[in-house]
Amino acid sequence: TMTDNQRPAIVAYGPLYPYLMQQLEARFTVHAVAADADLDALPAKVRGARALVSFGSVGAPAAIMDALPALEIVALFSVGYDKVDVDHARAKGIRVTNTPDVLTDDVADLAVGLLYATVRNIPANDRLVRAGDWARGKKPPLSARVTGSRIGILGLGRIGRAIAWRLERQAGEILYHNRSEAKDAPYRYVADAIDLARQSDMLIVATSGGPEAAGLVDAAMLDALGPQGVIVNISRGSVIDEDALVAALADGRIAGAGLDVFAHEPHVPPALLAMDQVVLQPHQGSATVHTRAAMADLVIANLDAWFAGEALPTPVV
Ligand code: DGY
Repeated sequence: TMTDNQRPAIVAYGPLYPYLMQQLEARFTVHAVAADADLDALPAKVRGARALVSFGSVGAPAAIMDALPALEIVALFSVGYDKVDVDHARAKGIRVTNTPDVLTDDVADLAVGLLYATVRNIPANDRLVRAGDWARGKKPPLSARVTGSRIGILGLGRIGRAIAWRLERQAGEILYHNRSEAKDAPYRYVADAIDLARQSDMLIVATSGGPEAAGLVDAAMLDALGPQGVIVNISRGSVIDEDALVAALADGRIAGAGLDVFAHEPHVPPALLAMDQVVLQPHQGSATVHTRAAMADLVIANLDAWFAGEALPTPVV
C-alpha cells in the first residue's frame, strides 16, 4: 500500500457527496478546501495538490487554479461546467473532466415530472387538499393538458433528446432549437429561438449553461411563449433572465413555470415563493442514489486514468 507521501495530494473544493469523498480518500491525500476559503492563505501541502474535485455549483474559477501551482486536472462532479474557467484551464494546460451520460435519464425524468406537475397544478392541488379546502367543497381549477401539446425543447443535446424521447407519444408535436449541436433529430427544427417559443405551448430549457447561453430566454421570448405558455428549466438558472421570468409570471404573460435551477442558487426570488402556478425544486435533477454513485465513479475513473497516464474517459479540456 502507498504511504501518504506517495499518494497524490488532491483538493476537495467545497462539500462533496460522502460516497465520492470515501472513494477519494481511499486513493489520495485529500485536502478539503471550503468554496469561500481565503486562497492566499492555503497551506503549502494544499498548494501541492495535483488534482481538484468540485461540484458543478462550485466549479473551478481562475483564482483557485492560480492558487494551486501544481494543479494538473480539475475533475468535476457534474456534467455542467459553466462554473469552470475553461479558457483559463486551457491556457494553463490544466485538464478538465465532467460527468456526462450517467445523469441524462434522471435529469430527463425530472424535466418531464416538472412539466406534468406544473401543467396539471399537482403541487398547488396538493396544498389545496392539505389545507382542507377540498373537504370544504372547493374544486380544483381546470388545467391545460400535456397530451396533444406542442412541446418546444431549447437545446436538443443528450438531455434534450432524452426528454423528447419520453414525450414523443404525449406531444402533438416536438420542436426544437439548438445553438450549436447537430440538427439531425427526428423533430421539427426551428431556426430562431423566439419562433420556437411562439410555436410552442410548453418550452423546456435543456441547453448547457455558460456565458453564451446567459439570458437566452428573455422577456421577448417569454412574451412569444404567451399567456397559456408553460416553461420548464432543468439546465441552468442563468439561461433565463430571472427578473423577466418573475415579471412575466406576475403579469400573467406566461401561465406557469417548473424550475429546478436558479440564477443565484440557493437563492430563489421571493416573489416566486408566493406563486401557485410555479413549481420549485432545489436543483435535484441528477440527485438519485443510482446516478450520484455513477457520477462519483466517473470522477474516480477520470482521476485514475490521469494518474495512470491513460486517456481521460470524459474530458472537457
Ligand atoms: C450537473 O451535473 O451539471 C448538475 O446540474 C449538478 O451541478
